[in-house]
Amino acid sequence: MGDQAEKLREAFQEYNGSGRKGTYIITVASGKGGVGKSTLTVNMGLLLSRKGKKVTVVDADFGLANVNVMLGVLPKYTLYHVFKGEKNLSDVILNIDLNFNIIAGASGFTHLVNLSEKDRIKFVDQLEQLNHNDFLLIDAGAGISKNVLTMMQAAHESFIVTTPEPTAIADAYGIIKAIISYDRDIRLNLIVNKARDFSEARNVSQRIINIAEQFLNVHINYLGFIFEDAAVGKSIRLQEPLVYHDPKSKAGLCLENIVNRILNIEPDRKQGGLRNFFQKFLSMN
Ligand SMILES: Nc1ncnc2c1ncn2[C@@H]1O[C@H](COP(=O)(O)OP(=O)(O)OP(=O)(O)O)[C@@H](O)[C@H]1O
Ligand SMILES: [Mg+2]
Repeated sequence: MGDQAEKLREAFQEYNGSGRKGTYIITVASGKGGVGKSTLTVNMGLLLSRKGKKVTVVDADFGLANVNVMLGVLPKYTLYHVFKGEKNLSDVILNIDLNFNIIAGASGFTHLVNLSEKDRIKFVDQLEQLNHNDFLLIDAGAGISKNVLTMMQAAHESFIVTTPEPTAIADAYGIIKAIISYDRDIRLNLIVNKARDFSEARNVSQRIINIAEQFLNVHINYLGFIFEDAAVGKSIRLQEPLVYHDPKSKAGLCLENIVNRILNIEPDRKQGGLRNFFQKFLSMN
């Protein structure tokens, strides 16, 4: 066991203070459902991969997994089979494009984690297979559940997606409040999706950021906005991601901006990386 642990430690490069090294983990969450998390996660991932980064998107929305549907692929096995110990991680990593993989989620599987110690070790051992990634993007699903809060806490960055709808704004604030009472050291970033124009997005972001600063004493980084754009719905109906189907659309160009900002985020020095992420996730009750 000692040898193996050592090997694992070596395999998981940590941040060494001189920039990005190892796999950077981003959890994408929202208070309200249907605000565009899955759309954004897939398209941000694809754009990052087109810029030469190795990316895996993990569909961790165990209520309504649908990342694979957006990409028009039908996986035989999902994370569910891995957690159950029936399949290896390599069986559920689907290569979609150069530098871009997904791990499909399992719908209707909200009570996920009750692994035996043996299965947990087996799973964590397999994580080496994800270690070649520059980014792991986790689509965490909507709402405040322990699953989601744990994934936010264990990641290097959390992205909160909202739309300008008052209900979405209120729910975004709700999840920010929940995560801050859970862990104050979380790195929070805000994306405003489905905005009609720049100033609407700016107003929405300022409201959330100001309220969070005033009442929770927490800083949120504004990552940018995405236009409400019929091209998004069209790409989903075609099961062809927007950044392939219509990269120069209004929404596509906004995504490009956001991805450029992601590449400029000063990396979090949080120790632990992948192994820490999944161990936290798997050992919660
Ligand atoms: N910028 C946009 N412009 C227009 N429509 C959009 C935009 N972003 C997302 N949509 C539409 O919103 C709907 C919800 O998107 P998506 O499934 O990505 O949201 P979600 O937050 O992942 O939802 P859930 O909480 O159910 O997982 C989709 O029909 C999508 O086409
Ligand atoms: Mg979704």
